[in-house]
Amino acid sequence: MRIAGQSMSQITGVKKPLSHTNSLTKLPKHGVETPHEDELDKYYEEIDKWGLDMFKIAECANKHPLTSIMYTIFKARDLIKTFKIPSKKFINFMITLEEHYLDVPYHNCLHAADVVQSVHVLLLSPALDSVFTDLEILTALFAAAIHDVDHPGVTNQYLINSSSELALMYNDESVLENHSLAVAFKVLQQEETDIFVNLSKKQRQTLRKMTIDMVLATDMSKHMSLLADLKTMVETKKVAGSGVLLLDNYTERIQVLQNMLHCADLSNPTKQLEIYKQWCELVMEEFFQQGDKERSLGLDISPMCDRYNATIEKSQVGFIDYIVHPLWETWGDLVHPDAQEILDTLEDNRDWYHSMIPMSPTAQELSAQEAEGVGPVRDLAAAAEKIKFQITLEEPEDEEEYEESAEQLE
Ligand code: CMP
Ligand code: MG
Ligand code: ZN
Repeated sequence: MRIAGQSMSQITGVKKPLSHTNSLTKLPKHGVETPHEDELDKYYEEIDKWGLDMFKIAECANKHPLTSIMYTIFKARDLIKTFKIPSKKFINFMITLEEHYLDVPYHNCLHAADVVQSVHVLLLSPALDSVFTDLEILTALFAAAIHDVDHPGVTNQYLINSSSELALMYNDESVLENHSLAVAFKVLQQEETDIFVNLSKKQRQTLRKMTIDMVLATDMSKHMSLLADLKTMVETKKVAGSGVLLLDNYTERIQVLQNMLHCADLSNPTKQLEIYKQWCELVMEEFFQQGDKERSLGLDISPMCDRYNATIEKSQVGFIDYIVHPLWETWGDLVHPDAQEILDTLEDNRDWYHSMIPMSPTAQELSAQEAEGVGPVRDLAAAAEKIKFQITLEEPEDEEEYEESAEQLE
């Protein structure tokens, strides 16, 4: 006889943790054994900066950039001591978590490490100085570390359209985000990797609730409503005499943390151009691989996923104009003026991609005419084709607003 719920009790993709620290008498300085410790040391001088080069760290961190960055940040912030996290368990947990990130082009452990470091820097924003408790900081970094674990390199929409087991399990609702949370909390259940053993029951409950709230908010279909609420918060924001934000209750505090993680998740276009270009190549390759799968299954090819019919530069400009910039601009208002440099880089990057949009023959002709003063044509190459996104947005309550944004996104 089947017991109710039994068939759903299995969270797929969770492997038994192996002990990675048994043979170690002393833990390596940056969490992982590597012949490149000195180089790592040098790169980590920039750990508090937006410009840190995660690709370089990955080269030195012996395939474990996520473990290394988390250990380094946790030590620097004294979180290991504050929460009495057994160091070996911490490394065991991190390596196990990292091994549950898959070898896909973009949603791998490097992206997770990048989001962790971005959250770390955003938490250092002067406007947020002493605003968050140690438990909230611990949770924000933990949520960043786990937020895409076991991501298969395809979108929620693809999982739904292809009738996957995961979509079935989560009834099509935030499938990937729910799954990553389940995998991470499952790993925490094992004694060897339970890094929160010394937290009180109440702290564990709060950490779990906040982690779930933060990771579920990384689902891009929540973007519009998250941003609308952030705008309302900015309009009514309260600031203490010292200039730091005043956040009175759980709703306000979690809202800022959710947006912080979402901003970090959408931060690759705000990084130095050379770094942004590398992320862009990886994310596009992942989209194209999804497109290849859709083609071979006879499914409609998702926006931005057709490698034979895509203008990467145009997609980036659209992605920045309609998604990334509106979000970062609002975040910038919230922590004003702390994010100014980030916004400047984003705008420069947007202009660079815009300048790289290949012109269609008609656009070339028209712009030549314009140069000769014949026709008033500007941005024609960008306007000529509709910009497509790899994002499915939830319908906001306001239908008109939805139709407008949907038109822009089509
Ligand atoms: P994920 O990391 O799960 O959440 C944010 C999403 O934004 C990400 O998946 C991608 O689908 C998308 N994204 C991030 N960076 C880019 C980019 N440079 N171009 C297009 N889409 C992106
Ligand atoms: Mg995600
Ligand atoms: Zn992500």
